[in-house]
Amino acid sequence: MNLTIVGCGYVGQALAQRLQPKRPQLNLTLTTTRQERRAELTALADRVCVCDATDPDQLRDALRQCSSAVFCLGPKGDRQVDADGYRHTFVDSFTCLQSLLPQLPDLRQILYTSSCSVYGNANGGWVDEQTPPDPGPGHGAVLLQSEQLLLGIPDRKVCVLRLGALHGPGRDLDRRLRGLSGLERPGTGASYSNWIHVDDAAGALDTALHHEWTGVVNVVNNEPIRLRDLAWQSLKRQGLAPVHWLGGQEPGPEGRRIRNTRLKQLGYQLQHPSLDQSGVLASSQTP
Ligand SMILES: NC(=O)c1ccc[n+]([C@@H]2O[C@H](COP(=O)([O-])OP(=O)(O)OC[C@H]3O[C@@H](n4cnc5c(N)ncnc54)[C@H](OP(=O)(O)O)[C@@H]3O)[C@@H](O)[C@H]2O)c1
Repeated sequence: MNLTIVGCGYVGQALAQRLQPKRPQLNLTLTTTRQERRAELTALADRVCVCDATDPDQLRDALRQCSSAVFCLGPKGDRQVDADGYRHTFVDSFTCLQSLLPQLPDLRQILYTSSCSVYGNANGGWVDEQTPPDPGPGHGAVLLQSEQLLLGIPDRKVCVLRLGALHGPGRDLDRRLRGLSGLERPGTGASYSNWIHVDDAAGALDTALHHEWTGVVNVVNNEPIRLRDLAWQSLKRQGLAPVHWLGGQEPGPEGRRIRNTRLKQLGYQLQHPSLDQSGVLASSQTP
């Protein structure tokens, strides 16, 4: 297989690491938009391209002769990016890809790491791949438009993997939740979040490549968790004071619980089925 991973950040690089034992049978190309990252990526790949996926010449070069491409793009920079920034990163890149397809006859398989945010709010209800996405305006709408651009491509195997929020080395939850210790917060912390360990994001992508998955697949662990449970478990584990929920009206929507039934039906076995079992959180107990 000739594979190009476009965007080698947290997920793309984890996938590249995971694929190392498959080389040299696997011919691997990695991309970065930053010249200074070439050295870091060179050890992992047969070829490293400096490529902004919105640039047709650079994207064509990165994808030349490849049979499979995985797009793990994310907006650049540390600051929160607005919907226009998202549109530039995703929609412009996939519009560029579409325009190049006649010149890329060898490219049979296209994978994209989208986000469960396309489902929008379901008032705490369960959603699966059959649930019509309803992201509302803004970032989620851009991601949905990006998915539609790819899923509308004829004659290639396209798979959209909707990832939950990522955690893992370098993005550990305890550090992120520490700041909530002892704070007063409105509501009861009822909103749900859905998580996936970066190893499982990479594992699902690897399996999707190998078994040529198509369509949409939710990539989340087994246990959506309410913010109050997440915070309580993490702060307890760290020996820190809990959040004091003030009650009253919730400050935001209750969110949704994402089903991963299709992921399992496709044969993927989660390495980290819940936050507990990944060792991130202490044993579960709702206050
Ligand atoms: N992070 C999450 O919790 C989360 C949750 C749900 C879904 N996802 C999905 O997973 C994707 C990947 O997440 P991540 O955490 O791995 O992102 P990340 O660490 O920010 O990495 C994104 C990569 O995209 C590259 N990139 C940005 N703009 C580009 C462009 N125009 N052309 C080519 N490459 C470009 C960057 O390249 P260089 O910096 O090397 O130049 C960076 O390496 C997200 O964008 C999202 O769709 C993420």
